[in-house]
Amino acid sequence: MKGLVLSGGRGTRLRPLTHTMAKQLVPVANQPILGYVMRHLADAGIVDVGVVVAPETQQEVRQYLGDGGRWGFHITYIVQERPLGLAHAVKIARPFLGDSPFVMYLGDNLLGSGIARAIEDFRSDGPDTLIFLKKVADPTAFGVAELDAEGQIIRLVEKPKDPPSDLALVGVYLFNPIIHEAISRIKPSWRGELEITDAIQCLIDMDAMVKGEILDDWWLDTGKKDDFLAANMTVLDEYTIRDVRGDIDEATTVEGRVAIGEGSVIRESIIRGPVVIGPGVEIADSFIGPFTSIGMGSRISGSVIEHTVILEDAEVVGVQRLEDSLIGRHAVVRRGGRNMKALRLMIGDHSQVEV
Ligand code: TTP
Repeated sequence: MKGLVLSGGRGTRLRPLTHTMAKQLVPVANQPILGYVMRHLADAGIVDVGVVVAPETQQEVRQYLGDGGRWGFHITYIVQERPLGLAHAVKIARPFLGDSPFVMYLGDNLLGSGIARAIEDFRSDGPDTLIFLKKVADPTAFGVAELDAEGQIIRLVEKPKDPPSDLALVGVYLFNPIIHEAISRIKPSWRGELEITDAIQCLIDMDAMVKGEILDDWWLDTGKKDDFLAANMTVLDEYTIRDVRGDIDEATTVEGRVAIGEGSVIRESIIRGPVVIGPGVEIADSFIGPFTSIGMGSRISGSVIEHTVILEDAEVVGVQRLEDSLIGRHAVVRRGGRNMKALRLMIGDHSQVEV
């Protein structure tokens, strides 16, 4: 069984962050999303991993993953010149995949539970394809599967107006090599992409056995800001353990599940978990509330922050309440001195500010 991780694409929905970084490397609870993906593959005993990358972002993805030794992997990088669809990614990965069965994992998806048990079922049960599904409140925003009484998938529909079920396609798929035959039969969709849903529908039409694995645990698509904040909240809630390092003065209170990295300096503040603070962070005279993560090297002073993600080397000064926010690398949010009513902004392309 091989692994195929999709780490290309455009990431338009997470701009402006993704103007300068791969969306799969945006950190959730201070760890790149790809790190969680790799951990799941490693836990499932996968060793041979292909990573599909885009020319624009491949360098930093390679830098983060390296040769995969950290997870016990052997990684093969596959450059996709343009994001022509998930099935296109499988197509160009064919020399790597050969005739091996494989798990395809979208590099911007986070699953609460691992995939090891599903891989066991796939091996013993022998369907041609096993698709991870999750019950969602609003199926119209997703690819949706219709199942028969035996749990076989009979139809897939993209963003249906009138959904046949509430089971959305999660970004994890287990395939036998017969998928390559299906991909060779499909044509690009109206958006010019080779769609994996079309290829799977083609498999169903070829009478292949396509089954669904319904997840009980959470699943998070980190594509947009609010989804991303929700992902951060869930992961902080599930995984944060108290691990306080750095230099913390007596006037500071650290409550609950809070992780603070080496070299951080905290003065006269309250930190209330779940919170993750990276190494080398400086915080003074501030309140850092639940569900906040602060990236390496950031500086916070005189501020109240809650339910917010701050990436590396950012600065927040004198902001009385910052919540539900996503602050990029090297960004500065500072209270102005002279005219308290005026906003003075310098905002990058595709940024959003609510005042
Ligand atoms: P999407 O989120 O569907 O696409 P995208 O990255 O272009 O994002 P956006 O809609 O914000 O512009 O892609 C799912 C995952 O698959 C994501 O990790 C990127 C990856 N991907 C590829 O590697 N190659 C592709 O051709 C496409 C479409 C996606």
